[in-house]
Amino acid sequence: MNYKIALIKGDGIGPEVVGEAVKVMDAIGAKFGHTFEYVDVLMGGCAIDAVGKSYPEGTAEKCKECDAVLLGAVGGPKWGHSTDPDKRPETALLSIRKDLGLYANLRPAALRPALAESCPLKNDKNIDLMIVRELTGGIYFGKPAGTEVRDGKRTGWNTMIYNEDEIARIAHVAFQAAQKRRKKVCSVDKANVLDVSRVWREVVIEVSRQYPDVELSHLYVDNAAMQLVRDPSQFDVIVTGNLFGDILSDEASVITGSIGMLPSASLGSSRPGLFEPIHGSAPDIAGQGKANPLATILSIAMMLRHAFDMGTEAEAIESAVHKTLQAGFRTGDIMEAGKTLLSTREMGDKVIANL
Ligand code: IPM
Ligand code: MG
Repeated sequence: MNYKIALIKGDGIGPEVVGEAVKVMDAIGAKFGHTFEYVDVLMGGCAIDAVGKSYPEGTAEKCKECDAVLLGAVGGPKWGHSTDPDKRPETALLSIRKDLGLYANLRPAALRPALAESCPLKNDKNIDLMIVRELTGGIYFGKPAGTEVRDGKRTGWNTMIYNEDEIARIAHVAFQAAQKRRKKVCSVDKANVLDVSRVWREVVIEVSRQYPDVELSHLYVDNAAMQLVRDPSQFDVIVTGNLFGDILSDEASVITGSIGMLPSASLGSSRPGLFEPIHGSAPDIAGQGKANPLATILSIAMMLRHAFDMGTEAEAIESAVHKTLQAGFRTGDIMEAGKTLLSTREMGDKVIANL
């Protein structure tokens, strides 16, 4: 089979890590007899520099002609926080999620045995959780939103809003994910304060009745943030809204050793899904061969599994990454005494050698 993949390399370390992931993808193709064809799509800060806007016309259409999208990272201090949305790289990320209908963001966070020493927590080595973050609603997209001068004071506002359909569909994703894991869902909200959270909780409870084999619990987001560092092993699947999911997924990632290790999948009800590392563009180390490509390489594994139903190929990548770490190879972000420091490119090569 021939698959077409849109590559949004983006900014900072984006092009370097995507470069390594593509090498791995091609190695998988050669090994298992698939052909992957790539289409470069310009988006993010680099698009502002090239054509004056972060999300050029036709970006979503180009992606829709592909079977999946791989994204490196977008953004960086160079582009600041312009008041013109066209000049903000983040606008592009939110627009592509919305335009491709990618409402479900899966962010698995598992501590690999080889990286147990990088876990900043004292005695928790059993971290294997997945955050299911709602990605196209909530306060990120709620209207009204804006800034103005009110009574002589600069004022800004956003709206956190969810309707029952948006909540139900993400809840279904979470329960179904849990059925394939340890059958536990923890829904995170702020129902003690927010009206939107009370609807969220009600609908999640209703949906849960269709999944009697899955145990449902609820946490307020502040408590969830604390529980994640106190005892992350208590979690299997966490389902939550856009903003809380953004925050908790960064927290979950760092307790697994490094944000440089974690992949993600953003899925809608049809193709293409979008696959990207959780980390950002890391402008401080961009272009120096220091970036960890493993999160992007593992995002390829998620693509193979979720977009192309290639479970065996996905496992081949995951076990090659595991072997590479087990053999003591590290990039700077996960370096420890006694291990071998590799550049971005060398890490990609090692993973391929272990395939
Ligand atoms: C993420 C990022 C984005 C988000 C930013 C860059 C818009 O933090 O993917 O988690 O908040 O969704
Ligand atoms: Mg984030």
